[in-house]
Amino acid sequence: MIGIVICLEDRWNYTQSDRDIDIMQMYQETIKAFGVNLFLIVDKTTNGMVHKFPFDIECASYKTLDEILGRYPNYVKLYFEHPNAISVDYITLDKLVHPKDNVLYIFGGDENGLNITKLKDNEKMISINVSNYILWSIIAMTIALYDRYVKGNN
Ligand SMILES: C[S@@+](CC[C@H](N)C(=O)[O-])C[C@H]1O[C@@H](n2cnc3c(N)ncnc32)[C@H](O)[C@@H]1O
Repeated sequence: MIGIVICLEDRWNYTQSDRDIDIMQMYQETIKAFGVNLFLIVDKTTNGMVHKFPFDIECASYKTLDEILGRYPNYVKLYFEHPNAISVDYITLDKLVHPKDNVLYIFGGDENGLNITKLKDNEKMISINVSNYILWSIIAMTIALYDRYVKGNN
């Protein structure tokens, strides 16, 4: 399976407003457009994010990223972060050879990012080398999926 993992935080989840629900829908429509079939959310919001899962792909919500990592031990994990927020070795997205299957593309929350300090054998840190600007995670996700698409893993 090709999976996306996103992290939701309180700052982003103002009042569980229509705006938040629209953004969740954007995530879902975008990942479906790129043939992703697994959508996992780390919901770190205090009240729980309001979202309606699409019925045609596998979805689940967890409280921590560790729970997800434990649940998919044999998947390749690709963490995405801006270079300024990376403290491990990384490669830029243009150099990435996307795994054909059993892979999780993991994006940090828009406030805190991922804070990965160590990588295991089947894990990689990826940076999208555009500029000094930090991207919204939904934009970083879309660029990563487009890169996968143009490199032929669709
Ligand atoms: C707004 S950013 C997080 C910002 C956070 N304050 C930090 O500095 O770590 C949200 C997420 O988008 C993704 N992202 C943003 N810019 C990126 C870049 N240039 N390359 C790769 N991922 C990026 C990462 O997954 C990041 O955790």
